[in-house]
Amino acid sequence: MTKDTTNNHQPSSMSDHDMVEIHSKLNIEKHPPTKGFLVAPLVFVFVFGCLIFVCSIQLAHSTNQFQLHPPTDIVVLTEEEKETARLDRKVASGKKVFGLRCASCHQANGLGIQGQYPPLAGSKWVTSDPALISKIILKGLKGEIIVKGEVYGASAAVNMAAVPITDREIANVTTYVRTAWGNAASEITENEVSLFRAESEDQVEQWTGTQLVDMFPSVFSN
Ligand code: HEC
Repeated sequence: MTKDTTNNHQPSSMSDHDMVEIHSKLNIEKHPPTKGFLVAPLVFVFVFGCLIFVCSIQLAHSTNQFQLHPPTDIVVLTEEEKETARLDRKVASGKKVFGLRCASCHQANGLGIQGQYPPLAGSKWVTSDPALISKIILKGLKGEIIVKGEVYGASAAVNMAAVPITDREIANVTTYVRTAWGNAASEITENEVSLFRAESEDQVEQWTGTQLVDMFPSVFSN
């Protein structure tokens, strides 16, 4: 048998021990041992550490203990400001009701349509006794009336039917109408409206113009 010539990696003259020796020498040449240690990486670690620390404090501070939705600054309103805000909301919601339930006849500008739908801007039916306007909305109105010197409701075609809405909506819409377009009358509350509703329980038909003029003498005395 001839000797295996394919295995030519290992010269047979070298022992395992020699091999290890030679490799460790080569290794030392490639990677000379560090003398002392490098300061730069430590400085970087320190600087980045400080940076992360400072940033986290800043973040914790600005998000109020890492809350996902930190509260915005609490605004303290005075009683007066709260009251104005409440009234603004009420008037805004009354304006919506007006757009849906009244504007088709009385028009968005409150001027009505001459000869057909009486104006609400500058009308004492609107700005006088809170009960008057509320009761008109609750039960409707028919027959002749005089608004700002003009006659309306002379024919049955221009009656006002009862508007089916809640006490709250009536409070909102009347408050809007009484303060819009230069009108400057008082607010009407939901409680007042429920009282007016109870008072007009017996009224089955629409009110007539003359009936209301008799019911509110102080409004129509002059
Ligand atoms: C379908 C049309 C129509 C709608 C809708 C309507 N009105 Fe009228 N309104 C009239 C007519 C017509 C008269 C006059 C009736 C009469 O002369 O007998 C009138 C009269 C009035 C009056 C008394 C007269 C005046 O101009 O001051 C007030 C107040 C009033 N309406 C408020 C309202 C309010 C508020 C709403 C909505 C909640 C409303 N109306 C919805 C047709 C309407």
